[in-house]
Amino acid sequence: MQMRTDADLLSLFAPGTGRDDDGGLRIAGCRVDDLAATYGTPLLLVDEGHLRATVRAWQAGLEVRLPGARVTFASKAFPCTAIYRLMAEEGVGVDVAGGGELAQAIAGGVDPARMILHGNAKSDAEIGAAHAAGVGLVVIDNLDDLDRLERLVVHEQGVLVRITPGVEGDTHASISTGGLDAKFGLPIDQAAVALRRAAAHPLLRVDGVHIHIGSQILEAAPFAASVRTLADLLAGEELGPFAVYDLGGGLGVRYTYDDAPAGLDAYLDALADAARTLLPSGARVLLEPGRALVARSAATIYRVVTHKRTGRDFVAIDGGMADNLEVALFGQRFEVAHATRPLAADATVCDVVGRHCESGDRLVEDALLPETLVGDLLAVPVTGAYCFTMANNYNGALRLPVVFARDGEHRAVVRRETHADLMARDLA
Ligand code: LLP
Repeated sequence: MQMRTDADLLSLFAPGTGRDDDGGLRIAGCRVDDLAATYGTPLLLVDEGHLRATVRAWQAGLEVRLPGARVTFASKAFPCTAIYRLMAEEGVGVDVAGGGELAQAIAGGVDPARMILHGNAKSDAEIGAAHAAGVGLVVIDNLDDLDRLERLVVHEQGVLVRITPGVEGDTHASISTGGLDAKFGLPIDQAAVALRRAAAHPLLRVDGVHIHIGSQILEAAPFAASVRTLADLLAGEELGPFAVYDLGGGLGVRYTYDDAPAGLDAYLDALADAARTLLPSGARVLLEPGRALVARSAATIYRVVTHKRTGRDFVAIDGGMADNLEVALFGQRFEVAHATRPLAADATVCDVVGRHCESGDRLVEDALLPETLVGDLLAVPVTGAYCFTMANNYNGALRLPVVFARDGEHRAVVRRETHADLMARDLA
C-alpha cells in the first residue's frame, strides 16, 4: 500500500484542520478530544465557518459568471434546522424533496419563494402543502404531478418540468439519474406534453425545465454535455425559450486520497460557457448542489470499542452503517484519521468496522492508522453529505448529535437520540 503522510490525510478535512504539538486533532479551532468528552461519540462535527465560506464561494462564483443565476441547496444532503437556517442566512434557496423537508425548511426560516419542490412520487398532501406555503417552483416529474397541480392550485404556481436528458456522469449506478432508464423525470416527448398542458392551465406558470444527471460526478464535461443535450432536445420539440433553466446538482467531492474532482471554478466555467452559448440570453440559471456544498465541512468522530486481530486486523468503533450508509449502500470509500496521533511511518493497515450486525458494515477497509487502542478517537472526514440524512436506528443505534464549531467555539444543533426516543412512537 502506498505510504501517505499526515498532511495528505488532513488535506481531506475542512481547510484549517491541524494537529497540536501532542498530536491532537483540531477542527475549526476545537480539539476533537475535548468535543468528544463534551458531547460523546459518535458525533457529527461541522466546521461552520468552512460551510459558510463554501456557500459564499458558490454564490460569488456563479454570480460573476452568470449574473442573476442562483444557488439552491439540495437540502436532502443535510436536512436539519440549523443547516436550513444557515442557508437562509447566507441567502440561498433550498430544494426540498417532499413534505418533511418542506416543513423543516420552513422551520429553518427559508423563504418559501426560494424553495423548489422535488420528488418522483409527490402526494396530494405534499403538493398542496408546498402550494399553500408559497413554494416558488414545483418540479413536475410525471403526468400525475400535473394532474394533481391542475386539480389543487388555487393561485398562481410556478412550475418546471424535469426532463431525462439521456446523459450519464461516470458515477455509482444508484446515484446516476440522467439516463433514459432513470426513474426521475420525463423523456422529451412526454415532457413536451406536460409543458404544453401546464401552459394551458390558467394558474400554472411554466417557468422552465429541470435536469439533474446524477451525483458524485467528478468531471465537468458531463455537465456541459447535459446542457447541450437539453438545448438540442428542446429545439427538436420547438420548446422554449424559458425564463428558468435548472441544471441540477451533482458535482463530486474528494473523499479519498485519489479522488480528483473538478474544482468549483472548472465546474462553473464549463456550465456557464455551455449556458451562455446554448441557453437563451436573459434566462435564469439555477444550480442545485447538495454534496459539494456540505460534504467537506463535516467529519464524524468515533471511539474505538475493540481492536481484534484475527484473520485481519479489526478496529471496531461505536458507530458505522447507522451513521454512514454511504459505504454499505453503494461502496463509497472514506479515509480515517486517528484523532490524537498523527499518521507516521509506523502506521499499519487495518479494517475500521462498525458495530452493526452486518458483515458489510465496514466503514474503512484497508485503513492506514498509527497504533490504535481501545478508547482512542478516530475522525472520518467528508461526512457532511447524506450521512446525517440516512442515519438510522439499526441495532438500536441512537442517531448522533450535530455540533457546529467555529473559531474555537462550539454548540450542539441536534442532540443525540435517547432510548426514550427509540420508543417514542410505540403505542403498545
Ligand atoms: N437535485 C436533485 C433533483 C437531486 O435529486 C439531487 C440529489 C441533487 C440536486 C443534489 O445532488 P448532489 O449535488 O448532492 O450530488 N443518497 C446518495 C445521494 C443521492 C443523491 C440524490 N439526489 C448518497 O448518499 O450519496
